[in-house]
Amino acid sequence: MFGRVKSLDAILATAEKKSLHRSLGPVQLTLLGIGAIIGTGIFVLTAAAAQKAGPGMMYSFIIAGFVCAVAALCYSELASMVPVSGSAYTYSYAVVGELLAWMVGWALILEYAVAASAVSVGWSGYFMGLVKSWTGFELPLMLQAGPTWTMNGFLPHADFSTGWINVPAIFVALAVTWLLMIGTKESANVNAVLVAIKVTALTLFIALSLPVLNGEHFAPFAPNGWFGPAGTSGMGIVGAASSIFFAYVGFDAVSTAAEETKNPQRNVPIGLIGSLAICTVFYLLVAAGAIGAIGAQPTELGVAAGSAEFKAQCAALLAQGQEPLVCSNEALAHVLRSINYSWAGDLVGLAANLALPSVILMMMFGQTRIFFVMARDGLLPEKLASVHPKWKTPYIVTMVTGVFVAFGAALLPVGQLADISNSGTLFAFFMVALAVMILRVRDADRRRPFRTPMVWVVGPIAAAGCVFLYFNLPLESILVLPVWGVIGLLFYFLYGYRKSHVGLGRVEVHEDDPDAPHGSVAPLPGIPAPGDADE
Ligand code: ALA
Repeated sequence: MFGRVKSLDAILATAEKKSLHRSLGPVQLTLLGIGAIIGTGIFVLTAAAAQKAGPGMMYSFIIAGFVCAVAALCYSELASMVPVSGSAYTYSYAVVGELLAWMVGWALILEYAVAASAVSVGWSGYFMGLVKSWTGFELPLMLQAGPTWTMNGFLPHADFSTGWINVPAIFVALAVTWLLMIGTKESANVNAVLVAIKVTALTLFIALSLPVLNGEHFAPFAPNGWFGPAGTSGMGIVGAASSIFFAYVGFDAVSTAAEETKNPQRNVPIGLIGSLAICTVFYLLVAAGAIGAIGAQPTELGVAAGSAEFKAQCAALLAQGQEPLVCSNEALAHVLRSINYSWAGDLVGLAANLALPSVILMMMFGQTRIFFVMARDGLLPEKLASVHPKWKTPYIVTMVTGVFVAFGAALLPVGQLADISNSGTLFAFFMVALAVMILRVRDADRRRPFRTPMVWVVGPIAAAGCVFLYFNLPLESILVLPVWGVIGLLFYFLYGYRKSHVGLGRVEVHEDDPDAPHGSVAPLPGIPAPGDADE
């Protein structure tokens, strides 16, 4: 399994044969990155970060941004060397072999599908906030949120007293699934408009909140310290960094567009680093504005954001007419309303409502693309990758993904979904950092259009940063990855190991992808049409 390596030459031949139209420049790539990055993280999870770290969450944004920046430098080298679909999964297949590639692909399900669930729940909070502000209507609380989960020993336990099911989140997840199934793809122009909406909303937030900044709101700066009180997990400035890492996820979408980029050697790194840098600046200003305007102190020290205890504390505060930042489901709109800019709160809410579905779309699109490549390699049932005759989309895999995304969004709170997604993403980033270093040794002479600067410093820092953030997630999210990994291993040995095309000696060069810009998804070599007998 470790020896089952897909040769880089075969992968590159695929890319060359596909010869996608190279149309994207540095500005479009940066916009693509910002489009995928800004979402639930800053609009919603700012509240959870404040509960974990207090005003010290400013440092959390810097730590998470730094780990992403060094990971992005590693991504850039691989993306420029192997500019094909499949991202970390494809790189791993070429470098560390099939078994680990499968594990990375399996972890990417956590990154993309679970992130799509998280953003759906984030959207739900803003949607209900806007509906309430405009019409006064409120859905029963039990239909606005899923249950709260805790660990009972090693078994998860659901507390339904805080909610049964998140109906708006199911709605948005299924609506986006439908758009993807019928072949909606976000054009560069639509993306540019949505990026403009998001950036305008954040700029408005900064412009209104910074002038009322009150220095006293920053003290105490780190009520939970760096790592939280003893006996807690995922708390403090570092715990908040592990969670707010979610706010930066999505920049790797830029690397998947490498095949469609003019001069990718120069432009992919610009797009990756540029989008991250711009978002980091915005995030820091937004965090400063939110804390400065209304303060960011936790309800009670050491109480986990999203826990049943935390929700009870928030309900008690609400009954007294207080709603601190940490308790809000629509953090940024809430801050603006609290400083008497209700109209601006509604506008920011509207911007989130319009723009978050595009983040869901990108995450689900990324997921279907990775499933598709894995099915094409024989590691998943090939029927999953069947393409719809009229819509020209891999509709089965999209539908299956959408149902799972809706399921997660219905039953889990946004913070836990984001943390679970982070655990998978950190694993994938870790593998990318390893892959860059291994390839430098094993395939030293291959042309590298972009070279990670000081790779023997940046690579280990990226790998160590991922491990560090992973182990500072809340305990239940740390446990999800190995459990998910064991399920993945079972699946691999029961299915992929026997069906793998590389294992069967069938390495074909593919000519088309469902995401090719030309949109033609004619029969794919190696993929039987629906109804064909399995091999
Ligand atoms: N970074 C994306 C978000 O915050 C996933 O929604």
